[in-house]
Amino acid sequence: MKRTLIRDAEVVFPSGCFVTNVLIIGGKIAAIDAPPTVDADEKIDGKGLLLFPGLIDDQVHFREPGLTHKEDLFTASTACAAGGVTTYLEMPNTIPAAINENEIRAKYQLAAKKSAVNYGFYIGATTQNIVDLKSISNVPGIKIFIGSSTGDLLVDDQEALERIFAETTLPICAHCEDESTVQTNRKQFGNRQNVSTHSMIRDVKAAVIATTRAVDLAMRHKHRFHVLHVSTADEIPIFADSRPFVTAEACPHHLFFDTRDYDRLGTKIQMNPSIKPAEHPPALWQALLDGKIQVIATDHAPHTLEEKSASYPASPSGLPAVENYFALLLDSAQRKGFSYSQLASWCADAPARIWGLVGKGRIAVGYDADLVLVDPQRTRTIKDEEQFTKCKWSPWAGVTLTGWPVQTFVKGESVFKLPVDHSFGEITNVKASSAVLCDHALGGYWATTDGVGPNTLDIV
Ligand code: DOR
Repeated sequence: MKRTLIRDAEVVFPSGCFVTNVLIIGGKIAAIDAPPTVDADEKIDGKGLLLFPGLIDDQVHFREPGLTHKEDLFTASTACAAGGVTTYLEMPNTIPAAINENEIRAKYQLAAKKSAVNYGFYIGATTQNIVDLKSISNVPGIKIFIGSSTGDLLVDDQEALERIFAETTLPICAHCEDESTVQTNRKQFGNRQNVSTHSMIRDVKAAVIATTRAVDLAMRHKHRFHVLHVSTADEIPIFADSRPFVTAEACPHHLFFDTRDYDRLGTKIQMNPSIKPAEHPPALWQALLDGKIQVIATDHAPHTLEEKSASYPASPSGLPAVENYFALLLDSAQRKGFSYSQLASWCADAPARIWGLVGKGRIAVGYDADLVLVDPQRTRTIKDEEQFTKCKWSPWAGVTLTGWPVQTFVKGESVFKLPVDHSFGEITNVKASSAVLCDHALGGYWATTDGVGPNTLDIV
């Protein structure tokens, strides 16, 4: 079995950062604090670098099958590798939609051939597929579009929602924007062509009504539930006290943009849920710091620049983010007052526990060696032409950030490297990935109150 030693990196553990040596044997973390002289096939010098657990992005739209002119599982997963993401959980609004065993297994087979990093695929809910939602196994969970977005998956009928929460056992996540509020707003504002109208149509009220409805369903049915892409301050009190059933997440576009940015970026930041006015992002940051929101995920949703150039409302909603959000967060850590351990919790440990991902999410003996070396001093400017995503653009193009992933490992194999003298990196191996193993009996995020999940092994 291959043995790799990562020496002298500052390793990011849940309890803090320590300079030590991590030994990888056969794709798993075999020892922490291994002697530097230990026998190894490869020794990697991590001096001056941080070693993070590989990021787990639990909300991405990778477009395959059906929309591969925008993205496919190879391009998207190389973008993940470049961004420090070693596992993604992908949404069902592909064509065909992933709403039954056949479509789900087809996606897993495609990913087994094409994906550079580890993968899992949600099953999508419809008003008709309760049998599929009950019988599917080894998927991270069920996705419900309580409000419509890209594609035609929508379940806003109360009776159908009650059945899904009552009769299924997998954890559920949902896109929470109230469909009837959106339709009413569209009638009122729909004749305006400025993209800022998008935030008036998909307004704060639409998010609040749908999140209230979904959290109520979760609490009454005692069903594990994850609120995707929280975009407003007003939603936070709705789920803040709903342990042990409800967790929540924020996305980089809602943390780093507000409606003033439409002037500069136009339809590039047209998203569902919409970008919100300036008072909302600081409240989302505070909720992350307070532990009321536990996860940061990207909602990576690429469309071509040509599609995005259509004038509103013909322009599609969605933006790519998977390869830049880690650097955005690393660059913000000091300014926003959070630690690297906190960052690792939002982006790796919490999603692993929420979706029961066995052996993922932290650096500990026995865990998979899904790891990212970060150079906290590396400064780069985001450029469209250097993006690995097929759509080849970023809403953060032109932004200069300090702190970048420089090498990404999947099961101990190097899949991405950013050489010191290169402005952009190289994909080095595409064969190490595999499907995540989901064990929902592990109990989810709130399984223990000290924030340490039952899939934790002791650090040697
Ligand atoms: O703006 C969005 N676009 N939000 C979503 O939730 C879906 C996504 C897409 O798939 O394009």
